Amino acid sequence: MSENIQRQEYLVNRVERETNNGHRGVVVWFTGLSGAGKSTIAAAVEQELTKRGLHTYSLDGDNIRFGLCQDLGFSANDRAENIRRIGEVAALMLDAGLIVLSAFISPARAHRDAVRKRLPEGCFIEVHVATSLEACEARDVKGLYAKARAGEIKGFTGIDDPYEAPENAELCIDTAGKTVDACVQEVIRLLETRNIIPFQLR
Ligand code: ADX
Repeated sequence: MSENIQRQEYLVNRVERETNNGHRGVVVWFTGLSGAGKSTIAAAVEQELTKRGLHTYSLDGDNIRFGLCQDLGFSANDRAENIRRIGEVAALMLDAGLIVLSAFISPARAHRDAVRKRLPEGCFIEVHVATSLEACEARDVKGLYAKARAGEIKGFTGIDDPYEAPENAELCIDTAGKTVDACVQEVIRLLETRNIIPFQLR
């Protein structure tokens, strides 16, 4: 970081933007194995929030790797940088007053905790999509587990690279035998009970 930079104060802050939006901003951070259902649940949560007239944006692992993080691979250092950049983008979007739905494997507890620390208190909601490795591998939607088992992908999370499950996630969704809608409702209820979004009867 250059020494010759100074913080510029904006004349509008997050709370004023949230007031204009009519609701609080927050970062909902979905973590879990590849194929656990993070992106599917995050997308459906965003759709439900949008239907309710709330302001949202999605950050998704695969999509971000086509652009902002296209220079990064899956080494420990690159994954750290991936999550750091996403954390910074999420922080900006939070400052804009948005409800950010973020879906990244984010396998390292320390990297997720660093994003939590980077954001204002209470603005990081960690959701562990706790689908078992067996279930993810059985589904193998993208065919990547088969490639990893065949040795065609090295360092695949859950196969030959670690995944550190959260110890104190705000929500842990056990997806086994559950519909996407049921999982979405768990997230929506959490946001309602934390007074991030207004209660709505279904
Ligand atoms: S993270 O580990 O840096 O958080 P991220 O969520 O951005 O990962 O990207 C994960 C996606 O990249 C997976 O859903 C999968 O499609 C793809 N992928 C490609 N190689 C790997 C790998 N070695 N480990 C995990 N996912 C991989």
